[in-house]
Amino acid sequence: MRYVIANWKMYPQKREDALRIFSDTVALTQRLSGIRVAICPPFVWLSLVAAAAKSLVWLGAQDAAWAAEGAFTGEISPAMLKNIGCKMVIVGHSERRKHVEETSEMIAKKTAAVLGSGLYAVLCVGERQREGEWEKEIIAQTRSAVAGLNALLVRRLIIAYEPVWAIGTGRADTAGDAVTSILLIRRVLTDEIGDSAAKEVPVLYGGSVSEKNVREFSSEPEIDGFLVGHASLNPAEFARIAQAAQRGGKR
Ligand code: PGA
Repeated sequence: MRYVIANWKMYPQKREDALRIFSDTVALTQRLSGIRVAICPPFVWLSLVAAAAKSLVWLGAQDAAWAAEGAFTGEISPAMLKNIGCKMVIVGHSERRKHVEETSEMIAKKTAAVLGSGLYAVLCVGERQREGEWEKEIIAQTRSAVAGLNALLVRRLIIAYEPVWAIGTGRADTAGDAVTSILLIRRVLTDEIGDSAAKEVPVLYGGSVSEKNVREFSSEPEIDGFLVGHASLNPAEFARIAQAAQRGGKR
């Protein structure tokens, strides 16, 4: 199964725009078979669009609290997200690692909390720069979040390989280099959770995915889909990306 996941980031600013983008995206993607489409709007729009969500298109959140409940002002628990119809949560996005200084420890706790509440976790990993010991960054991020997860939890784990330098820059990775990093992630998964469980974890690519470059990535069987940022705010472009992922996945 390939996944195509929309990360709206901190957009749009108005409720009517959120509803429009959501319903247009659902209308354009709900009939695609063989791929799972998910949309992750900001928290405030989740309940609003949940009413319009069709079961075939998943609703997801961009973050969740690391604890199940408690005195955590401003935080949103995985259980709350599940209760309003979310199926997945993005965890450890590089914008959260950078701007709110989420640590590996918090990300590991969030991953476990999200998976433990029955939701899918989309764990984001990726190097800040492709120089020096950049591979070590990917290995450490993956290992610290996955270590200790049991086999049942891992069934709902998805990893998004997102080189930070490619996010929002219009400078996507090459498909070949993305595959090299994805194979590295798979090796860490094999070490941590065993060969058979590691094979089942979808690993997506993210970072300036657009309708122009998606075909190159889609032809790689190692890439199990995409985490799409800016381009996901344009329903027509996002739908074309999803179609390309669907066709590539069938080859
Ligand atoms: P981008 O963002 O597609 O705008 O580069 C990717 C992401 O935020 O996951």
